[in-house]
Amino acid sequence: MDVRTSERVQSSLLRRMRTVDHAEGPWLEIDGRRLLGFCSNDYLGLAQHPQLIAAFKRAADDEGVGSTAAHLVCGHRREHAMLEEALADWTGRERALLFSTGYAANLGVQQALLGGVDGAICVQDKLNHASLIDGCRLAGAELKRYPHADPAGAARQLASRASAPALLATDGVFSMDGDVAPLAALAALAAREGATLMVDDAHGLGVLGEQGAGSVAAAGLGEAEAPVLMATLGKALGCAGAFVAGSAVLIEGLTQFARPHVYSTAMPPALAAAALAAVKLAREEDWRREKLAALVARFRHGAAELGLPLMDSPTAIQPLLLGDAEASLAASQALEAQGLLVTAIRPPTVPSGQARLRITLSAAHEESHVDRLLEALGRVRPAAAGR
Ligand SMILES: Cc1ncc(COP(=O)(O)O)c(C=O)c1O
Repeated sequence: MDVRTSERVQSSLLRRMRTVDHAEGPWLEIDGRRLLGFCSNDYLGLAQHPQLIAAFKRAADDEGVGSTAAHLVCGHRREHAMLEEALADWTGRERALLFSTGYAANLGVQQALLGGVDGAICVQDKLNHASLIDGCRLAGAELKRYPHADPAGAARQLASRASAPALLATDGVFSMDGDVAPLAALAALAAREGATLMVDDAHGLGVLGEQGAGSVAAAGLGEAEAPVLMATLGKALGCAGAFVAGSAVLIEGLTQFARPHVYSTAMPPALAAAALAAVKLAREEDWRREKLAALVARFRHGAAELGLPLMDSPTAIQPLLLGDAEASLAASQALEAQGLLVTAIRPPTVPSGQARLRITLSAAHEESHVDRLLEALGRVRPAAAGR
């Protein structure tokens, strides 16, 4: 372990935990300094919304803190049931099932759908989130990866084991790149080949689609075309936890067989109550999405004018691809010296040679914040390796 950690130090890949002493909107107090953050996933700026806080406090006053047990024992409270109903309604699915984290949800779904199924395969985009990849490994299914956002590549992988029971799994919005998966083409492929499509919409829910119903809704796909929809509560909804939405049959199957659901303590009911308040705001307050979209456009325009190596993303995730891990770390440190927190994302989170600054925007930001970021980037001038 020591050797591997030292190797990370040598190659500028050491991961370092920062303690945030206080958060106020996009502002973070770290080591006695107030930094303007561009790395949270609080895309709609709901994490500190008074209605979420009030719902959380009310439920904590009434129900206490812990759920005290797994859902199937006595941990499933009214707050969880109401949240599941609201999530199913929002995403246009028959039912929804809560998990404590998105990571656990992705493990649970694949283990329930693929575990013990003879010869099952899981076909995945190369840039899928780690939890989708790990879920397949844990399920014991054969993992077959295809080039990023390439339905033809996915088709080749499905064809390589044409008669195998198959799950085709993709991020809806890619977490480190911000681009949207070719969902309509993947759904058509899955239908043609008899595979089940699973979409992880952790970064699309709340941000894309009418009423923020997510990337799957934006692509016009219902439950029949995208039968397994997973998303998290810890990003645009500003809470924590996750859910899977789909048919009653799917949800009943997960309730029986998804071990991370069966054998894990239910999230605190107060958190479910806060998430319910967040769903209502995310659905109803279009202005948050509109403000976010305007900030994204402002940033992209400014970054293009500066000639920055902007990746092609229409979402809140706006990475600058620098390539080199050391250069990314240096750029992040130079921005921090100017009062901005932008995390450098390096391998193995992203492929080797594709280190980047993962800039995220939020409806909690103001135009002046974006301008300040652009000014700082203009001074730092982070450039792609080889430029
Ligand atoms: C695409 C994607 N799926 C799943 C997860 C895991 O969700 P959670 O943080 O709730 O465990 C994340 C991020 O953390 C993610 O980006």
